[in-house]
Amino acid sequence: MRVVSGIQPTGNLHLGNYLGAIRNWVRMQDEMEEGSECLFFLADLHAISMPHDPAELRRATLEMAAALVACGIDPSRSVLFNQAQVPAHPELQWLLNGTARMGWLNRMTQFKDKSGKNREGASVALFTYPVLQAADVLLYQATHVPVGEDQKQHLELARDIAQKFNNDFATEDAPVFTLPEPYIPPAAARIMSLRDGSKKMSKSDPSDMSRIELVDDPDTVMKKIKKAKTDPEPLPGEEAGLADRPEALNLVTIYAALTDGSVESVLRDFGGQGFGAFKPALGEVLVETLRPISSRFAELLDDRESLDAILARGAAKAREMGGPTLDATYKALGL
Ligand code: ADP
Ligand code: NA
Repeated sequence: MRVVSGIQPTGNLHLGNYLGAIRNWVRMQDEMEEGSECLFFLADLHAISMPHDPAELRRATLEMAAALVACGIDPSRSVLFNQAQVPAHPELQWLLNGTARMGWLNRMTQFKDKSGKNREGASVALFTYPVLQAADVLLYQATHVPVGEDQKQHLELARDIAQKFNNDFATEDAPVFTLPEPYIPPAAARIMSLRDGSKKMSKSDPSDMSRIELVDDPDTVMKKIKKAKTDPEPLPGEEAGLADRPEALNLVTIYAALTDGSVESVLRDFGGQGFGAFKPALGEVLVETLRPISSRFAELLDDRESLDAILARGAAKAREMGGPTLDATYKALGL
């Protein structure tokens, strides 16, 4: 099994990013069997398909790399790198642009969503980035690609491109590309804002001071949990009792995610108790989870040389792993 997965570099990482995304990668890595491997990359080349600030992109890329390592991605077991350091990604994209059809890309719903009403003003990169995504995984002969709902269509495209390329330019017994299968990651928690249970915890709302960030110290975490919006009712004994109580459900969900329990199991322990008892308990598990992460995170960001070295080693390994496929692609095309 070879799993390849990319993540957008985001800065100002918060609890939602950790429980909803980063932790899943760590689990994937930890569940790999002997002989299987994971390649994780920061999709910095994708970022230029939308308006962006170069300094911000650089900062976000480093922050995401540091966060991944701090959260448990082990650069000696997994290949961790950023796309921009592996020119084979955009190189292979260009080669695959000859195989991808306009009609296939025209059907991509994400382009329609992201370009909105301004299709004429959208970048060419936004239109063709699904081909870069195909290159991202085909370059390494990925057997599995983790996909959420919104990425299924892009994986289908990668398979279509691989299949057409193999048909047009390779023989059946010596295909150039492996058709990757979807890998459905374990369901990730969706974390809501601590001040409004109807909104996702997100960095996009700068006025939301309740957001728990990966760099928060224990005091700050405890204060934020104490201030989290709740209601006067005690916790119910069963999940159904949280139906119209989104803020309460969110806090229980966070506790469950942090302790590898379920909403039901948390309510078995805390049902009948009020938030005066539950919040300090939640604050404590949160602090204990974040303490090692935030200190390692800060350490890594302070030591740019080590962080750069981690990414450089990952990129070197990725270039080595992708080399044969890139060569085979050129050759198959008569180049
Ligand atoms: P933000 O919403 O803060 O801008 P991003 O959109 O950059 O975060 O998301 C980065 C990753 O973190 C994505 O995989 C996304 O699904 C995950 N993520 C972001 N916010 C949450 C949340 N509140 N709960 C669960 N997962 C989240
Ligand atoms: Na977002």
